[in-house]
Amino acid sequence: MNKPMQCEDDLLCGVNTVADMENMTSLEKEHVVVISAPEHIRANEPFDVTIEVGEHMSHRIEPTHYLDFIDLYADDTYIARLGLTPLATSPIMRVRVSLTHIHDTLRAFAHCNIHGTWEGRMQIHISE
Ligand SMILES: [Fe+2]
Repeated sequence: MNKPMQCEDDLLCGVNTVADMENMTSLEKEHVVVISAPEHIRANEPFDVTIEVGEHMSHRIEPTHYLDFIDLYADDTYIARLGLTPLATSPIMRVRVSLTHIHDTLRAFAHCNIHGTWEGRMQIHISE
């Protein structure tokens, strides 16, 4: 009988995050999900969110190793998805958002076909 693996020992199980932003491994540097947006947001006012995958080096885009989607959430609320192919894309998503509810965190998920799902977070403050 096969013994089940621990999820944290398998990149394809669960969601991966960078353990220490000051000391990233080369795998983390290629997969870190970086969100750029204003920290202070007014409810119902549009603002731009940019999500990039990779710090100092964008995640590679090759026929056999690529990102196939980037998702944006406000806390647990789904906001947007960018679908990517390995043919002519870069791992960058830009979207204009208007939030109508109180949220604390923008969360972005990027899925690599080899290294699984990676999450980045950014704290936000929403006012009237
Ligand atoms: Fe990858």
